[in-house]
Amino acid sequence: MKILITGNMGYIGPCVVERLRSFYPDATLIGLDIGYFANCLIRAEIFPECKVDQQYFADVRDLPPEVLDGVDAVLHLAAISNDPMGNAFEDVTLDINHRASIRLAKMAKSAGVKAFVFASSCSMYGAAEDQPKTEDSPLNPLTAYAKSKVLTESDLRGLSGCGFKVTCLRFATACGMSDRLRLDLVLNDFVACAVASKEITILSDGTPWRPLIHVKDMAKAIEWAAFRSIEPGGTYLSVNVGSNEWNYQVRQLAEAVAEEVADVRVSVNKNAMPDKRSYQVNFDLFRRLAPDYQPEMDLRSSIKELKNGLEEMGFRDPDFRNSNYMRLKVLTNLRNKGYLSENLKWCKDQPAGRVGEK
Ligand SMILES: NC(=O)c1ccc[n+]([C@@H]2O[C@H](COP(=O)([O-])OP(=O)(O)OC[C@H]3O[C@@H](n4cnc5c(N)ncnc54)[C@H](O)[C@@H]3O)[C@@H](O)[C@H]2O)c1
Repeated sequence: MKILITGNMGYIGPCVVERLRSFYPDATLIGLDIGYFANCLIRAEIFPECKVDQQYFADVRDLPPEVLDGVDAVLHLAAISNDPMGNAFEDVTLDINHRASIRLAKMAKSAGVKAFVFASSCSMYGAAEDQPKTEDSPLNPLTAYAKSKVLTESDLRGLSGCGFKVTCLRFATACGMSDRLRLDLVLNDFVACAVASKEITILSDGTPWRPLIHVKDMAKAIEWAAFRSIEPGGTYLSVNVGSNEWNYQVRQLAEAVAEEVADVRVSVNKNAMPDKRSYQVNFDLFRRLAPDYQPEMDLRSSIKELKNGLEEMGFRDPDFRNSNYMRLKVLTNLRNKGYLSENLKWCKDQPAGRVGEK
């Protein structure tokens, strides 16, 4: 069995590789990543990519065709992976997240790949506070990132069939420790605030709903999608991935963190612009289709894991919202220093320096 994992050098990727490596020790695992966050490692005893059999440093926009030779399943995680980056690099986001994903899927189908798993997002439900959203609810993508996921799902539907099984996993917002930790995710951010400064500042009025899922449980769902039988889900499936119990309001998350970390104050920014991205999600379909792959982590243990992980790292940067723990910050730094071009390709022949400097 040969499995290609794109975007394996990000936040979720190392957890996916870890899981596949332990459950399928004989599988050939191939990683492919452009490496934007390759050096954002924390506490990793080894380079996580040592666990794959082959690693391509490549751009999904210029895919070497041989990558797909003999591959059975593609787990497609590579993307510009959140709203702030999508807003800053809108065209590139559509190019990487949508157009390159579809090109990859077409190449995969012609190469005889049997299963294609796409890391999609519940953020496509946008402003949706009325009822928990099911897979049949109308989509309301509010950002370039969310739009890119909607467009990709729609085109993937047309490509599925004739032995090509497509599963779009509409993930809740991730949380939890990883070898490449990100702190630009709501729960991770709150725990980092609590550990570093004993004060959690909520950047909204605290009311938006946000379903969450732990990274380890995302990896579990990805494994399920790669190997699921075609029935009952069908050759093409879009499914919400998370659990009904993990629909929280942002304020509740902050309060839960304050209960786990001693002497922490929670402050709400009363002047914040309302955050329109608020949605509750119904995960019944995932429960029905994947009863043995349901999320296991709970909120309290996820908070404890993050707290302990950050403390073990000696983390105490109260200004981390301006640090490399934020994906947008990393990309912006790489751009400003001239390492990345406008369309986020590596400038291999350009000496490092500020953009425009000679
Ligand atoms: N983190 C979340 O809350 C969340 C929630 C829902 C869905 N997802 C999706 O899961 C996937 C992985 O998310 P993540 O949190 O690990 O993101 P991440 O940004 O940490 O990792 C994405 C990886 O993709 C790589 N990449 C980006 N553009 C590429 C290109 N052109 N060619 C090759 N590689 C490229 C990056 O270098 C990075 O290693 C993404 O598709 C994301 O949209 C994430």
